[in-house]
Amino acid sequence: TVLIIDFGSQVTQLIARRVREAGVYSEIVPFQSAAEAFARIAPKAVILSGSPHSTVDIGSPRAPDAIFEAGIPVLGICYGQQTMCAQLGGTVEAGHHREFGRAFLDVRQDCALFKGVWASGTRHQVWMSHGDRVTDIPPGFKVVGTSSGAPFAAIADEARRFFAVQFHPEVVHTPDGAKLLANFVIDIAGLKGDWTMAAYREQAIASIRAQIGDGKVICALSGGVDSSVAALLIHEAVGDQLTCILVDHGLMRKNEATEVVAMFREHYNLPLVLVNAADRFVDALEGEADPENKRKTIGRLFIEVFEEEANKLGGADFLAQGTLYPDVIESVSFTGGPSVTIKSHHNVGGLPERMNMQLVEPLRELFKDEVRVLGRELGLPDHFIGRHPFPGPGLAIRCPGGITRDKLDILREADAIYLDEIRKAGLYDAIWQAFVVLLPVQTVGVMGDGRTYEFVCALRAVTSVDGMTADFYHYDMEFLGRAATRIINEVRGINRVVYDVTSKPPGTIEWE
Ligand code: XMP
Repeated sequence: TVLIIDFGSQVTQLIARRVREAGVYSEIVPFQSAAEAFARIAPKAVILSGSPHSTVDIGSPRAPDAIFEAGIPVLGICYGQQTMCAQLGGTVEAGHHREFGRAFLDVRQDCALFKGVWASGTRHQVWMSHGDRVTDIPPGFKVVGTSSGAPFAAIADEARRFFAVQFHPEVVHTPDGAKLLANFVIDIAGLKGDWTMAAYREQAIASIRAQIGDGKVICALSGGVDSSVAALLIHEAVGDQLTCILVDHGLMRKNEATEVVAMFREHYNLPLVLVNAADRFVDALEGEADPENKRKTIGRLFIEVFEEEANKLGGADFLAQGTLYPDVIESVSFTGGPSVTIKSHHNVGGLPERMNMQLVEPLRELFKDEVRVLGRELGLPDHFIGRHPFPGPGLAIRCPGGITRDKLDILREADAIYLDEIRKAGLYDAIWQAFVVLLPVQTVGVMGDGRTYEFVCALRAVTSVDGMTADFYHYDMEFLGRAATRIINEVRGINRVVYDVTSKPPGTIEWE
């Protein structure tokens, strides 16, 4: 095991991810409980993360001294470098040489950390983000790399296997960073590099069992990849102590609820309650045009329905959620002890407190693509794992203007045809997300010999990595023509189709 001590950097999870990619198991602990964790885990190597704090401040966090006395390799990153220096006899200076973003590291000497990656005398792009810097290195260390803003950008005490860098090797903007981290955990620490997602699965199952004991768990299954993988993992851990609840709010895609229920009940034999609450949601949304009110109404009703169903089951001790790492907004709060603050899932926010349940979040250390790998490991079919993201409020936010049952039906049909055409053209996996938006605009058309006056729909398709930024998908015109013709011919109520060519920013992916 590699122990990663988290001093509150925004990117600590990326360190863990790179270590996982090297095939090595790691555990992240907040600095407040690092001493206890170090004694308990007896790791083969330690990595010290970055931090928003300054080592020159009174009371700023420190690594437990024991890690420097255990004869194991230690790597300090950014703040981790600074606290290493401060603790081992060097000096750190605050504030004067702030360096953010791209920088270049000049390799001054060969070093085990750079082996096979960077040779002495070469220069490489790295990513910096620091206000303080080391001004004097501790006894035993030598400088192995410099940058214009950081004369001690990389230092090493090879005899003790202590390494420290001012830059962030864990981020993609340090292109060789993953290789340096692999050098640290494999070459320097001597770990095997044979850890896989299968091992992650076993570990996750063990820790779910330890958390839940013989308690009861409920899970809000949406049919999305995250909640599905979380549910399967928990089911593997505690079997029928878990019950899933799927609330069909009438805003899902065509046949979606039925397909999800079939898969989980039949294929996985998972206890699943399907609640058909479509009327309740659609009645409450009828005529609602304001996007935020739509979201609020849906969120409120979701909690009501979910709570009613949970009470029918006799309540539960735990609520399972498919929270991913990008949803975890703050990893360590300096004053607030070792617990973490999470962004509550928009669907179930507030429920755990109201019903006095604890959260089970087995995916909170993973990134989306890792969840997909885990899903595959659990046997979920590829077509399910590769599905496009779908927003919690569903079709309601793809129907700008007042919502009506009719409009939702029209939209659902058009969306199904559009996605069918995308699949037939073999484009589904090349597109990050695609959907139809039904506009609150009617236009004049002519069909047969008659005048029509029907709705316009917009097709949307984007490419993206994480949904934060996106480009519109560059279809060929043949495809667009084909999809438009089919929608107009087959869906009563639509007589015109347009394509949205807005990127994000300035647009968002959804229209509301
Ligand atoms: P935007 O529209 O903000 O969308 O560019 C980015 C991604 O988030 C999804 N999205 C939502 N997901 N509840 C959700 O669960 C929401 O209220 C919501 N709004 C947008 C959107 O589909 C896209 O994948």
